[in-house]
Amino acid sequence: MGKIRILMLGGTSEANALAKVLAGDPRCDTLLSLAGRTEQPMIQLLPTRIGGFGGADGLANFLHDGEFDLLIDATHPFAARISQNASEAVASLGLPAFSLQRPQWVAQAGDNWRHVATIAEAITALGSKPRRVFLAIGRQEAHRAEGAPQHFYLVRSVDPVQPRLAVADVQYILDRGPFHREGEIALLETHRIDAVVTKNSGGSATYAKIAAARQLGMEVLMVGRASAPAMQTVETVDEALSTINHLFSPR
Ligand SMILES: NC(=O)c1ccc[n+]([C@@H]2O[C@H](COP(=O)([O-])OP(=O)(O)OC[C@H]3O[C@@H](n4cnc5c(N)ncnc54)[C@H](OP(=O)(O)O)[C@@H]3O)[C@@H](O)[C@H]2O)c1
Repeated sequence: MGKIRILMLGGTSEANALAKVLAGDPRCDTLLSLAGRTEQPMIQLLPTRIGGFGGADGLANFLHDGEFDLLIDATHPFAARISQNASEAVASLGLPAFSLQRPQWVAQAGDNWRHVATIAEAITALGSKPRRVFLAIGRQEAHRAEGAPQHFYLVRSVDPVQPRLAVADVQYILDRGPFHREGEIALLETHRIDAVVTKNSGGSATYAKIAAARQLGMEVLMVGRASAPAMQTVETVDEALSTINHLFSPR
């Protein structure tokens, strides 16, 4: 039997961790796909292609023409469009597929979370009185803050927010996780933050802000995930490997 040809949709630290393992697996011939959103993506050990496929049909054609045996959707839990395209593409081809998705964060004792459905809702929920807000949601939806321009915003993203936000009081930080609790506490204190806006991304790389907010008794506006993945889902690299073994082990 030839090698197992895998297309992995990435863009997360979990995808990078699985990529590392698959790069060293002689049974697999894996291609990593990135959207091309970050200007300097992490160095990868796997061959990598960058850019959209042109919707579900484009992805199905890519999988078919490249004679792929398996699709792994290891994109971010909030990257809903590509995951929807992936499930449609594999359904149309009858191709084996699974999703690698970290479990969401769950509030624990001491957390002061308010659950909201969207970032726009989180911004409204901050209220009318001016507050000092840490906006830790990446750059794509940062402009939602313009809906409540009375607040101060500390905006952190991997790449610069362009165009800049049309609010009076804003500061930008460029940084990429993993982050650590002590550093996050210092950041929140230095900027006298009183609310954190975040998506419920799950995983460890960006959890430190949640732990820091808990320690400081600070309110967190937690944006929930819109939908559960349509595919079979695993939560860890080990589970991903055993699923591959299960799918492709010689009988
Ligand atoms: N959304 C977040 O909060 C977030 C956070 C961290 C990392 N990311 C990563 O950033 C990327 C883009 O996220 P998004 O929220 O903009 O996605 P999205 O809204 O679900 O996808 C928009 C379009 O981007 C293309 N695309 C997305 N991921 C791709 C991939 N891995 N390979 C090739 N094309 C891809 C697809 O274009 P076509 O339809 O043309 O194929 C897709 O329709 C994802 O890979 C995701 O893992 C997202």
